[in-house]
Amino acid sequence: MRTHMCGVLNTQQLDETVSICGWVHRRRDHGGVIFIDLRDRAGLVQVVVDPDMADIFAIAESVRSEYVLRITGLVRHRPEGTVNANMHSGAIEILAKDIEVLNESETPPFPVESEIEVNEELRLRYRYIDLRRTVMQEKMKVRRDVTRVLRNFLDDNEFFEIETPYLTKATPEGARDYIVPSRTHENSFFALPQSPQLYKQMLMVAGMDRYYQVVRCFRDEDLRADRQPEFTQLDIETSFMNENEIMHIMEEMIRQLFIKVIGVNLGDKFPRITHQESVSRYGVDRPDLRIPLELVDIAEDMKDVDFKVFSAPANDPKGRVVAMRVPNAGDLSRKDIDALTKYVSIYGARGLAYIKVNDLAAGVDGLQSPIVKFAPAEVWDSVLAKTGAQNGDLIFFGADKANIVNEAMGALRVKLGHDLNLIEGEWKPVWVIDFPMFDWDEKSQRWNAIHHPFTAPSCSVEELVANPGTALSRAYDLVLNGTEVGGGSIRINRTSMQQTVFEILGIGEDEAREKFGFLLDALKYGAPPHGGLAFGLDRLVMLMTGSSSIRDVIAFPKTQSAACPLVSAPAVVTDEQLKELGIRLIKPAGKEKAKQD
Ligand code: AMO
Ligand code: AMP
Repeated sequence: MRTHMCGVLNTQQLDETVSICGWVHRRRDHGGVIFIDLRDRAGLVQVVVDPDMADIFAIAESVRSEYVLRITGLVRHRPEGTVNANMHSGAIEILAKDIEVLNESETPPFPVESEIEVNEELRLRYRYIDLRRTVMQEKMKVRRDVTRVLRNFLDDNEFFEIETPYLTKATPEGARDYIVPSRTHENSFFALPQSPQLYKQMLMVAGMDRYYQVVRCFRDEDLRADRQPEFTQLDIETSFMNENEIMHIMEEMIRQLFIKVIGVNLGDKFPRITHQESVSRYGVDRPDLRIPLELVDIAEDMKDVDFKVFSAPANDPKGRVVAMRVPNAGDLSRKDIDALTKYVSIYGARGLAYIKVNDLAAGVDGLQSPIVKFAPAEVWDSVLAKTGAQNGDLIFFGADKANIVNEAMGALRVKLGHDLNLIEGEWKPVWVIDFPMFDWDEKSQRWNAIHHPFTAPSCSVEELVANPGTALSRAYDLVLNGTEVGGGSIRINRTSMQQTVFEILGIGEDEAREKFGFLLDALKYGAPPHGGLAFGLDRLVMLMTGSSSIRDVIAFPKTQSAACPLVSAPAVVTDEQLKELGIRLIKPAGKEKAKQD
């Protein structure tokens, strides 16, 4: 139907007769001459329709935005003064010789422009229109480039792409499962995989050596800007490689990815930080190293002060007291600080004490704060020295249970970094290593796996049993600008260790057999040392395209309430289908239907 795509045309095709197909981006009538900007995936080109050509002029007069046309015409220079240097085809135009309307279009629900202020629900309902916008087409192109570069790298390095089932059994990654009823096995359900974790481990037992898959994962969890109920992983597993070898090759892959797709060099060697250091300095296990603010422990100084808010957590082994110096922020107003206090309260902080450092030379008199009166001058001298405070700085304080302080002050650090334009550098990758194996869940009074239950500890079975709370794992996360883009570990490859971990997690022998018997069996048949990781593909593309949500880099994402407005999923099913599956609803289908309508 066509000889060229619209957006590729330029002076190279001068004087050629070309045929193009696309959508009417804009039609302008200019004193008898009609201009049509025709758009396809490659971009725009300007078509000129001369009134001398009465028949096609009549067609041009009738077309509206988003009509689909096929146009044949002559490529010629644009008249002087009308060249558009910002457009690939900006030096030329096409003088139409023939126009065919391939299809008409109703007026779209919102304009097909890159910059639009449209409610996201509407964009998702008409996603096929939304995706026509140049910004969205560019994001999809980056996504295509990303998977292509990753696949090429892995193919070159002898990884096999192998598919694993979607209809499977629960794989624990910390979220709820999406379950699918089985018609042929009464009262039984499949679970959609939260990740292909156990299949890829079994592929290693099967001698596949190096595996990868661009794979959909399903997790029923609370949604955020960087979380979707179904999302895509670049999932990887290798045999006979230790954690350093795995991190090395993966780092090389990510480095090449950024160079080839967006021309960014992430640097020679990504820094590594232990989990403990990350939480201590930044409050989180996914630090944004572009932000030059740090939490400084001051519990030692606060043990004996009169201020209970500080002295109580300072003397509590589970408590934490920190100071965070914000350079040159002394001019923040009372109102600003009140707003920040409200912000940290979202994370459970009961207040946000502060000191404005007006004049260091004046000692305590040079400090402006509601809390200076609660402690002697030596205490503040020590705090100022530890934080490296200078005149004009503001110091914030957090005091509470360690997890509340970490979350609240970690979030405050990121917020201030953005609000006060403190971001240094564009890209800061970091490996976070030496995660603890478990954390203690107060509510259910049991240990939880921090990564997943198949991650190997860096100690022996005996040491693990003796000290589950301090044992470290052989897990690693790749964090980029404060977003966890990937994570993995060396796996347990011996049955005895796997059983021990299940026991510590409170998974009894019978339950372990029922849920993971197949894995325990597989480990008995010569399971090689193995390990791997998975990258969040959507998150990588989100960062590489500067998008604020992964929804913008997924063609058909779900809303915040995990629904698809385009096809109206989830939806009710018929009584016959339910009967066939042996399912009776607690709430009758009629009521649900009425609510959805
Ligand atoms: P994990 O659960 O850390 O590890 O997931 C790996 C990466 O997937 C991305 N990710 C998500 N992206 C979008 N929406 C979500 N709901 C979501 N959840 C996770 C993150 C994360 O780093 N089987 C292990 C990997 C392994 O051990 O090899 C796993 O799934 O970027
Ligand atoms: P108060 O004596 O309760 O008015 O608190 C004095 C200052 O300490 C105020 O600026 C509070 O915001 C702050 N504050 C109260 N609780 C905490 C806390 N847990 N962590 C940090 N600052 C706090």
